[in-house]
Amino acid sequence: MVKVLFVCLGNICRSPTAHGVFVHQVLEAGLSDWIEVDSAGTSGWHEGAKPDKRSMKEAARQGYDLSFIRSRQVRDSDFDEFDYVLAMDESNLSDLLAICPQDHAHKVQLFLSFGESLEHEVPDPYYGGEQGFTHVLSLVEQGGQSLLQHIQNHAQSDSR
Ligand code: 4NP
Repeated sequence: MVKVLFVCLGNICRSPTAHGVFVHQVLEAGLSDWIEVDSAGTSGWHEGAKPDKRSMKEAARQGYDLSFIRSRQVRDSDFDEFDYVLAMDESNLSDLLAICPQDHAHKVQLFLSFGESLEHEVPDPYYGGEQGFTHVLSLVEQGGQSLLQHIQNHAQSDSR
């Protein structure tokens, strides 16, 4: 198995969007038996909550379901359990690296670091307007395809 964890601050906007979109992309690629997906927040502020309504609406508009996702905080065991711990922005990245054991630090990366994207962060849409959520969805779709390509290219070294 290859296990992927998407991480943002609240786990109600960006990382659940990445979670739902990537589950869909993995399914479409026929790789669901091989790639496992989850998401979490560096904060526990929204523990147990469904994704933000604006994220759910934008995702549904593009054909993705996020309704199965519930917010949870990152836990110590995640760094052991997951192969990829992917931060949405630099702030999430530094928060993760601050709590990640040194021997797992190589797993913690920016989500948009796998492709050719001009942007390297998925910006926080929480306090902004609707177009921020549309932008998140589009970045996450591109990032997901690049990540999937990367995982397939590195199949040998990643599989356990
Ligand atoms: P997310 O967005 O990190 O993409 O889930 C946020 C959600 C909630 C808050 C901030 C960002 N908040 O301040 O509650």
